[in-house]
This record gives sequence, structure tokens and C-alpha cells, in this order.
Amino acid sequence: MKLKRPIIALDFNDAQRTLDFLQNFPQTEKLFVKIGMELYYSAGQDLVKAILEQGHDVFLDLKCHDIPHTVERAMYVLGQLGVSLTTTHANGGHEMLKAAKYGLVEGALKAGKKEPQLLAITQLTSTDERMVKEEQLITVGLEKSVENYAKLAQNAGLDGVVCSGWEANKLREVTGPEFLRVTPGIRLKTDSLGDQKRVMTPDMAAQNGSSAIVVGRPITQAKDPVTAYQAIFELWNQ
Ligand code: C5P
Repeated sequence: MKLKRPIIALDFNDAQRTLDFLQNFPQTEKLFVKIGMELYYSAGQDLVKAILEQGHDVFLDLKCHDIPHTVERAMYVLGQLGVSLTTTHANGGHEMLKAAKYGLVEGALKAGKKEPQLLAITQLTSTDERMVKEEQLITVGLEKSVENYAKLAQNAGLDGVVCSGWEANKLREVTGPEFLRVTPGIRLKTDSLGDQKRVMTPDMAAQNGSSAIVVGRPITQAKDPVTAYQAIFELWNQ
């Protein structure tokens, strides 16, 4: 399954800036946006609800990671919001992943909302080969560790992973086409890289097997965010 709309990472630090940014788009344009930890910790559920009320879809990227019971209860709360996607860390293990999914679905059922999809973080893109081997003592290395975590997440009933465009094809082989591969680190040829190192253009991500892309600064910092969004939309869906 491919998500046609690029997901816009709303990496702002307060509600007002976020809502001002969304005002750039025509009211009829229903977006898919990502809210991460900084914005959620600063603006909380009220902002999520306000954005949902405007008709947008929300990817709430909170990367929950704790003992299974705590994660289940946290996910129960998130499931009631009506978001479309959220995240947890695969290395919380099978029981925690199952509990996360269970809590999310129960929360959505209780509130009469659609069932959100749950993505796993495998190895953060800030984690390199040395860290995997020397700090985590995982002898099989980074690539195999990512594959292992993806399979672990799939076996626990999750819906996909966050992964770099460079990993997407391999993960498609390992987990099959329906398991989502959501890819950040997207840049147009004309964009600056910022702090991203291994970037891809939207069309490359499509060719390399990503099923959704997350784009922040190339849209949020653009002089004309709507034009930037449209250019990325076209390349991703060409
Ligand atoms: O501005 P930029 O397009 O680099 O934003 C990418 C978004 O995706 C940010 O919200 C960032 O936190 C997130 N992300 C990432 N790399 C990951 C996971 C999430 O860049 N591995």
C-alpha cells in the first residue's frame, strides 16, 4: 500500500506557529501531518485535536518505549484521539509490541475512532555500525539488526516500520509489500541537507520501495510551502 500524500513533519515548537503554517494551505486541502515529541510535549492533545478537526490526518510520532503494561496504557490513550499512525521502539520486544498494538486498538474501539496503524522504530538513523557492534553488542551488524527488528514487529502484529529509503527494498523482501515502509530524510535536488546524511529525492524513494515519505524542512522552511509540497507530491507519485 502506498500513501499518496507526503507526510509533512510539523517540527515547530508551539501550537500557534503550527496552526499559522497550516493556514498556508487552502482549507479544502486535507494534509497528512506528523507531530513529534517536541510539539506534542509543548502543545499536547489540544493541538492534535485541533488539527484533526481541520480534517487532516495525523501521524503522532511519540516512539513509546517502556514495560508492556505502561506502553499498553499509553497507547490506549493515543488510540482514543483519532490519529492515523503512531510509533514504538521494536527493541521493547515482542510482548511490549503486542501490548502496544492491543492498547491502541482498544483505545480506538472505546472512542469509536478508526484503528490507527502502528509503526516500529528499528535502529535509529543516528545509530551506526560501530554503535550496534560496540555499544549494543549485536554481532550481526546494523543491516541484519534492522531486518530482525522489522520481522519482530511484523510478528507482533504491527503495521510497518520507519526506515531509510536505502533500506526499503530489502525490508520489502523480508516483510512483504503490505508492511509499511515510512521514510524520512527526503530532499529535493535543490534543498540543503540540514542534519540529514543519507537523503533521497521523492522519486528515488518511490523507486526504492518506500510506501510513504515524511518531509519536514523542505516544506516547512520553504519560501512557498504549498508549491514545495506540490512539487514533492508530483515527484513522489509520478
Ligand atoms: O526536516 P526533515 O525533512 O529532515 O524532517 C524529517 C522528520 O522525520 C523529522 O521530524 C525527524 O525527526 C523525522 N525522522 C528522521 N529520521 C528518522 C526518524 C524520524 O528524520 N530515522
